Amino acid sequence: MDLDSIKKSYRFYAPFYNLVFGHRINSGRKKVVRLLDQKPGLRVLEIGVGTGLSVPYYDRTVEITGIDVSTEMLDVARKKYPQDKFPQVKEFLEMDAQDLQFPDGSFEVVVAMLVVSVVPDPEKMLAEMARVCAPGGKIIVLNHFASQKGPMKRIENLIAPLSRRIGFRPDFCLKTFLTLTDRKLIGVHKGAINGMWKMIEFENTPCPKKEQEERAKGNSEGTDEEPTPSEISLGAK
Ligand SMILES: C[S@@+](CC[C@H](N)C(=O)[O-])C[C@H]1O[C@@H](n2cnc3c(N)ncnc32)[C@H](O)[C@@H]1O
Repeated sequence: MDLDSIKKSYRFYAPFYNLVFGHRINSGRKKVVRLLDQKPGLRVLEIGVGTGLSVPYYDRTVEITGIDVSTEMLDVARKKYPQDKFPQVKEFLEMDAQDLQFPDGSFEVVVAMLVVSVVPDPEKMLAEMARVCAPGGKIIVLNHFASQKGPMKRIENLIAPLSRRIGFRPDFCLKTFLTLTDRKLIGVHKGAINGMWKMIEFENTPCPKKEQEERAKGNSEGTDEEPTPSEISLGAK
């Protein structure tokens, strides 16, 4: 995956993206927003905001900045969620998640929904998310991760070589993802579609050394490759 192929894929998806990726995953988007303590003026950065499908779930008093590399996806967002009707929208900006143009600690919350398996370098993106998030702030990722067995695994393996064309990596796995950041893991929660989509919650502080070692070994508690049947919480909220 490279930025040019991503831009090309999402130029193609933009006109019908909401039809295909809207309704089925909106429960996950809602759950992400529900995790937030939405105080007036709360500064939220949405990485890869796309067509802005999460915007209506935020309180009207928070400040959402949405960034994306796709002009066409952002055009849909700007049209559908104009600031005069959705005062929670501060701005939609064209920007690469791997090279954010914001000073350190600019946001209390940084969110990425359906982006980590799209972006060329997820580790770089996570580092940038941590940099622009205030110390102790919240970082939340909503994503589909590779299935471990059954027909879904076979389908994901079959379409994985087409990643550049379809615009995401269907075989991106949760354990790999968790080794890409040293931020403190708060929980791996059910996201959408009966747990097939996961919601990963971090606090923006370095995690204890022991947890980092466990993650590197791939056996941190609650990060089984199996879809987790119920919500798992690690550590205090
Ligand atoms: C599957 S869509 C998700 C859109 C939205 N977050 C949602 O919940 O529907 C992935 C989005 O990530 C964007 N994207 C991919 N790589 C990016 C990057 N390096 N920087 C910013 N946005 C990126 C794509 O343009 C696309 O809009």
